[in-house]
Amino acid sequence: MIFHQIPVGPMQNFAYLIGDEKTGIAAVVDAAWEPETILDLAGKDKLKITLIINTHNHPDHTSGNDDLCRRTGAKIVAHEASEAQKDVSVKNGDTLKIGSLEAKFIHTPGHSPDSMCVLVDNKLMTGDTLFVGECGRTDLDGGSSEQLYHSFFEKLVKLPDELEVYPGHDYGMRPSSTIGYEKTHNYVLKPRTLKEFLRFMKEP
Ligand SMILES: [Fe+2]
Repeated sequence: MIFHQIPVGPMQNFAYLIGDEKTGIAAVVDAAWEPETILDLAGKDKLKITLIINTHNHPDHTSGNDDLCRRTGAKIVAHEASEAQKDVSVKNGDTLKIGSLEAKFIHTPGHSPDSMCVLVDNKLMTGDTLFVGECGRTDLDGGSSEQLYHSFFEKLVKLPDELEVYPGHDYGMRPSSTIGYEKTHNYVLKPRTLKEFLRFMKEP
């Protein structure tokens, strides 16, 4: 598997390029800010981008959709709750092929109603749901701390510790982590009741 974590734009975003070496088919997760940079990398690796996957519909993750779509013919994939223009709607547990690879979608609302994490092989792209050492805010339109609690404690913490975490922004001490490390070190994943979590999320 070819995997690039690509720093893009002025808000410390990460875009991801995931390629299947066997077939030359690739997907981009969160095509934003710099479609040219993403296309250059795909060109160097001789990859054909067929899917553009949005972890959620915020412009700093989707601003490159149209341009990249026009230049590659790729299909846009987003959660069914997303209001983004999309070709493929997915829901929790759905999978899509990237050549011989498989992307699995885990619906993790909280930061936004359509937030989802994307699992390919042992790499989990967490968008703005989980950052290294932090989490995305829940005070924007459609955000919900209660939903985030369920996403964290009923879905993410139950994933294998060894899964690698690749966030939507470079806000942590390092650009990537693992589920096991975040479970131990990320203060947002500390075991809490829902009531405690809601109080914690309101703290400045
Ligand atoms: Fe966001």
